[in-house]
Amino acid sequence: MPTILCLASYFKGGLFLEECKRLGCHTILVTTQKLEHEAWPRHAIDEFFMLPAPNLARQPDITHAIAYLMRERAIDRIVALDDYDVETAGDLREHFRLPGLGASASRFFRDKLAMRIRAQEMSVPVPAFTSVFHYPTVSDYLARTAGPWLLKPRSEASAMGIKKIHHPDELWRALEELGDRQSYFLLEQFVAGDVFHVDSVVWDGAVVFAAAHRYGLPPMTVYHGGGVFASSTVARGSEIEASLLAINRQVIAAMGLWRGVTHAEFIRSDADEQLNFLEIAARVGGAGIDQLVEHASNVNPWVEWARLTVADVRGEAYALPPLRHDYAGLIVSLARQEWPDTSAYNDAELVWRLQKRHHVGFIVASSDYERVQGLVSNYAGRVAYDFSASAPPLERPPA
Ligand SMILES: Nc1ncnc2c1ncn2[C@@H]1O[C@H](COP(=O)(O)OP(=O)(O)O)[C@@H](O)[C@H]1O
Ligand SMILES: [Mg+2]
Repeated sequence: MPTILCLASYFKGGLFLEECKRLGCHTILVTTQKLEHEAWPRHAIDEFFMLPAPNLARQPDITHAIAYLMRERAIDRIVALDDYDVETAGDLREHFRLPGLGASASRFFRDKLAMRIRAQEMSVPVPAFTSVFHYPTVSDYLARTAGPWLLKPRSEASAMGIKKIHHPDELWRALEELGDRQSYFLLEQFVAGDVFHVDSVVWDGAVVFAAAHRYGLPPMTVYHGGGVFASSTVARGSEIEASLLAINRQVIAAMGLWRGVTHAEFIRSDADEQLNFLEIAARVGGAGIDQLVEHASNVNPWVEWARLTVADVRGEAYALPPLRHDYAGLIVSLARQEWPDTSAYNDAELVWRLQKRHHVGFIVASSDYERVQGLVSNYAGRVAYDFSASAPPLERPPA
């Protein structure tokens, strides 16, 4: 029986655990004490462990904890359910000689400087960037490229800690303030344009499934308190879809993922229409994106990730479920009401409602692209008026 150990520094991935259990695995969840009372699918979790730390990254604590479990359990795979666990899982796989992304490989899916350098080496277009190690190189970069620039943490999520820099003086001041933390940042050109995400399933190095969606507003605008989070399927068979799927394949090949799921983001420059690679994660997209993909394509990335992980352990073949080629739109916002009343939202295309304190969220789906576009913009406007809280920057993506 495959034994799958999941790390979760955040409450997510219930569908992954449920599918592993359904497929006959022994499932182990390692999370933090603070998440003890979340709605984990307890029926699908054979063993539930908690660490006292705020996250699971602390060494050597996590290595000692997993080593202790391994004395009595033959663990086949370690899976990082949350972004914050990706590098920890890489270190643990390396230490315990388990298959999957090791320490160095997992950096390509977490460290924005590592993925930028790798993408550029493989001729994938990226916003002009530099590391912040060697000051003459940084000066030279500032002289060579036009601002504004973004000073970005290499390993944070949800636009946390991203600072827009308009003048070189601002950068030097920001670096001084960061002090010893500055090497954990990168500097890149701000590219104005639409932001897209492509969510994939990868088996034997091939992208066997990929779905392209466009964010309503760039996530940075939303996370910095500027609006409702929205995303919708791009027109199937369109030029932009073909370009997104092509650059997504190029990126996945460059990062060298063999089997797994990915969530990648791209920005299309308003100036020259060029697609630029923003980031890639070896995990499922957050904020309801798994449901969005499922309603458009009949593929739930959490479920497929579990299926391919189990097939991998068992040495079996993996096949996708039958695909659907519909359109879906996702709308999520913080709500000023504790439990918002969404009964006035009742179109026939509404297929999902988010149930979460101080949140509101919907998915609409249809075979008609224009209908989904219309509903998404209508709902986004109404949600902003009916529910939106004007909130400080989020600590995490909504949902
Ligand atoms: N070079 C860039 N030019 C313009 N906008 C950017 C750029 N990099 C990031 N952003 C904006 O910031 C958001 C978050 O950046 P991203 O690199 O995706 O980090 P994360 O999602 O991990 O916080 C993006 O979705 C986009 O809206
Ligand atoms: Mg992002």
